[in-house]
Amino acid sequence: MPNSRIVDILKSESEPGDVTVNGWVRTKRDSKAFSFIEVNDGSCLANIQVIADATLAGYEENVVSLKTGASLTLTGKVVRSQGKGQLWEIQATSVEMLGAAEEDYPLQKKGHSMEFMRSIAHLRPRSNLFGAVFRVRSRMAYAIHQFFQERGFYYVHTPVITSSDCEGAGEMFRVVTMDGEEIKTGEEEFFHKPAYLTVSGQLEGETFACALSNIYTFGPTFRAENSHTSRHASEFWMVEPEIAFCDLEGDMNLAEEMIKYLVSDALETCADDLAFFNQFVDKGLLERLQSVRDRSFERITYTEAVELLQGSGKKFEYPVEYGHNLQSEHERYLTEEHFKCPTTVYNYPKAIKPFYMRKNDDGKTVAAMDLLVPGIGEIVGGSQREERLDILEANFKEHDLDEETYSWYVDLRRYGTVPHAGFGLGFERLLMFVTGVANIRDVIPFPRTPGSAEF
Ligand code: 4AD
Ligand code: MG
Repeated sequence: MPNSRIVDILKSESEPGDVTVNGWVRTKRDSKAFSFIEVNDGSCLANIQVIADATLAGYEENVVSLKTGASLTLTGKVVRSQGKGQLWEIQATSVEMLGAAEEDYPLQKKGHSMEFMRSIAHLRPRSNLFGAVFRVRSRMAYAIHQFFQERGFYYVHTPVITSSDCEGAGEMFRVVTMDGEEIKTGEEEFFHKPAYLTVSGQLEGETFACALSNIYTFGPTFRAENSHTSRHASEFWMVEPEIAFCDLEGDMNLAEEMIKYLVSDALETCADDLAFFNQFVDKGLLERLQSVRDRSFERITYTEAVELLQGSGKKFEYPVEYGHNLQSEHERYLTEEHFKCPTTVYNYPKAIKPFYMRKNDDGKTVAAMDLLVPGIGEIVGGSQREERLDILEANFKEHDLDEETYSWYVDLRRYGTVPHAGFGLGFERLLMFVTGVANIRDVIPFPRTPGSAEF
């Protein structure tokens, strides 16, 4: 008899017949004549109820001694449930305990804090909340590939180890080799020059877009910024499409279309998990996601955004001033209080943006865009790239960067340069948005943040 996933049994419309199920005990109640075991296998939020008669062979060792957290395999007949809530339950014909759980299994009670759950990251996927988060994470990764593949984008694997700093912010982790305690430097350096963990696959992505036309990357990125916020991680995943023969307008259109597509996919394919988040994590979640799916987004230039914020009469912790980055409180005001929907802010002052962004004709701004969403702020950051050789070269000087290091990147402008644009979607920020989970650590299997790299 092939093993069945609990989700398939519970969703079955016709009588599923005899099944073999594997999983972990969530709860158990023993009475004189039988035991009720709630079993979960991670395939869905719901448990399946199993009735094990005291007359079963090995009842004492395999059923009575089962504790919360123990693993088991069982066979039985699926019958219509007498209780409320679910259609099917299992009348067991055999139960075998695979691995006992010790008395102090940490997930005994409901309602543990997120902080406590982070301290048992190896067990937290067995909880309702984290099981749901990581099922949604898996589905969203799949939907991202589907979105880009359906539109003819090629998936490019950009390197994790790099020698160029894409964002020019210097917040990078260095990659070194060791001889005992001694770090090899200079001539002895493994790559014969300094190497780092990538902060973005964009520069490499641009070279592939200038050959295959439409590409995307999707992989881990690393930032050594010392940010202790609920939205920054030291290791996170980024999705970075790069489109040749495209300007800022096309870039903004694609970003909006992608967010709508992913939200709509989540609503459709992760309905049970989202309903759980809506009940226990964020009561406004479903309504917000439905409105993101159905309504159009707003667009506003940086200059207009600054005027709007200054004229809002709202007291901000950080004052709004032209030429400064928008703070998260400003971004949230725009999306939560003013527009009440996702908003793209574009054409930022060039002084606060990286060297690769395309200079606008006003000489003051660059063709940059950030897509902001309610509850989080920036979820996507992108731009049209500077495709003109002379202006790009001048940018390296202005940003005090060594053009030599980027010669391979500059070369694209020497041989058949084209207008091109792209963006980066922070995958974890998307997950926070889709699940309503407020801390980035809680949508990452094994989070890495300043001062913390457990497990
Ligand atoms: O705005 P960022 O820094 O843009 C880039 O890296 C560009 N090279 C992307 C491109 O044009 N190809 O980062 C892009 C997104 C942000 O909007 C945010 O969602 C996410 O990546 N992000 C982070 N997510 C978690 N933790 C951090 N420390 C993050 N830094 C950026
Ligand atoms: Mg950004």
